[in-house]
Amino acid sequence: CGIVGYIGYRDAYPIVIKGLHRLEYRGYDSAGVALLDKELKVYKKAGKVNDLENFVKDIPLKGTLGMGHTRWATHGAPSDRNSHPHPSNSRKLTIIHNGIIENYATIKEALLTKGYKFKSDTDTEVLINLIEDIQKETGLDLQEAARLALNKVIGAYAIVIMCSTEPDLMIAARKGSPMVIGVGKGEYFVASDATPIVEYTKNVIYLNDNEIAYIRRDDLLIKNIDNTIQTPYIQELDLQLEMLEKGGYDHFMMKEIYEQPRSIRDCMRGRIYPERGIVQLGGIKEYTEKLKNIDRIIIVACGTSWHAGLVGEYLIEEYARVPVEVEYASEFRYRNPIISEKDLVIAISQSGETADTMAAIELAKEKGATIFGICNVVGASIPRITHAGVYTHAGPEIGVASTKAFTAQVTALTLMAFYIAQQRGTITQGKLIEYLTELNEIPDLIEKALQANDQIKEIAATYKDSNNCLFLGRGSSFPVALEGALKLKEISYIHAEGYPAAEMKHGPIALIDAEMPVVFIATKNSSHEKVVSNIQEVKARGGKVIAIVTEGDTIIKGMAEHVIEIPQTGEAFVPLLATIPLQLLSYHIAVMRGCNVDQPRNLAKSVTVE
Ligand code: G6P
Repeated sequence: CGIVGYIGYRDAYPIVIKGLHRLEYRGYDSAGVALLDKELKVYKKAGKVNDLENFVKDIPLKGTLGMGHTRWATHGAPSDRNSHPHPSNSRKLTIIHNGIIENYATIKEALLTKGYKFKSDTDTEVLINLIEDIQKETGLDLQEAARLALNKVIGAYAIVIMCSTEPDLMIAARKGSPMVIGVGKGEYFVASDATPIVEYTKNVIYLNDNEIAYIRRDDLLIKNIDNTIQTPYIQELDLQLEMLEKGGYDHFMMKEIYEQPRSIRDCMRGRIYPERGIVQLGGIKEYTEKLKNIDRIIIVACGTSWHAGLVGEYLIEEYARVPVEVEYASEFRYRNPIISEKDLVIAISQSGETADTMAAIELAKEKGATIFGICNVVGASIPRITHAGVYTHAGPEIGVASTKAFTAQVTALTLMAFYIAQQRGTITQGKLIEYLTELNEIPDLIEKALQANDQIKEIAATYKDSNNCLFLGRGSSFPVALEGALKLKEISYIHAEGYPAAEMKHGPIALIDAEMPVVFIATKNSSHEKVVSNIQEVKARGGKVIAIVTEGDTIIKGMAEHVIEIPQTGEAFVPLLATIPLQLLSYHIAVMRGCNVDQPRNLAKSVTVE
């Protein structure tokens, strides 16, 4: 699920391989490169980019035109032969591809009857042979043949094509999967995101859907697939190389956990004025009138972003008094949802590329809803298809398991809840002053919460060999419990479940025994006493309790095996603090179990397929 390409005057291989390393965070199961040095050379391997590097280490790799790919299997198991690049039958053309060609089976059938042979089970190999076939049948040049072929395919793609008889041409195209072009002097770069490009140039063009770029060393031509010429829009990247490096931490995940005071500050910067009790969200200000008249808010998202949405539901309903529904984007898009023009849809996505979330947005848009986005990656697809939105400004998140992006999403939703409340007059100025003052202190309090790291590491050592773990919380701490469970299962492969604390007695209680650690989010709030009872129910059955409590809580200290304190804050902001120890707990357990925390098996950072 990562693409990188280079055409210019330097050796392509080092640029391509470094680019693939930069894209590793997106998640993948195999990797490959193609280089043009008189003839086309293709090398590919199932496994990590390092495995590919070892495989080619004794081969001289020359050429100033090259491309590389990391694959996340969709059609066909992860294997050497299913890895990209895929050459055409004549071996003149070769392609790398992200996305899915939905009508590949029909095209393949037609090509098979013409005698084409396929070496892989992929939809990608079908596409490159379709291009070759069109060229053969029509005598058109590669540019035209590629364009015609793309008109025939249904589905999503970001592709790069090279041709052995065209040493000064690289073709890149996108529909539904991201593609960025880096513009240098006498050289161009292409990639799925800007991370492989930033150290060479800050000038980039984000290719739009249905555009094809014909890239030569000294020339770039962008056309729409209907053959109209497009004027490229060059943007300057706001991305520093240091943001993409570990900066002294063992893993990106740990770096990103520790970045949270900064990322939350960045998310709030210029948006809140606590002394005056004002929230300003420039990205959605044109819709303030609309906000006064909405009947309902629907939040759509996937994975961790969906959990942020659940926290948002509590905040928006509490402060803005608008009914909120939170939907998995993948479910929402397929169930003919009832949506009207008086609905506001908020789509949340770290990457801004998640296929299901994008489809949910398109559907809601068709039905006349207003769509806001909450997104981390600037210039990604989702911010481009929403009506308005708010960037989370958490900076690049490299660890596949989301940490700082989640807390930034929750922060952005908190700002949105207050903003909507302000417009609808459901909150007083005095209350806003109070809440915004508390919110403004959260980064400092996270700093304090992070000081529990050593203690959490000790707790992790006690439970690292567990097979199961339960996470319980009430109110807005319920989504925190879900997120805590997701984090643990994603990176340590321990089976974990999140539950509303009171629901425990309707099922999960059957699982509780001395082998079952139960993590409670049990901070001082309106349901504190109820959670205390739930803790006693677990204790009575021999379960081991790890409780996240408000500092100074002596009641729970006397009951739980372990208490982890977080600073006192307003009820609305507890999710931001309570998440921190859960992230650290998962991190340490995963490291102790020898897991690859930054790139857990089978997971991808940007899921651009449905
Ligand atoms: C993948 C990632 C998750 C993420 C989810 C939604 O599953 O591994 O960390 O929460 O996609 O991604 P998005 O970019 O839309 O927030």
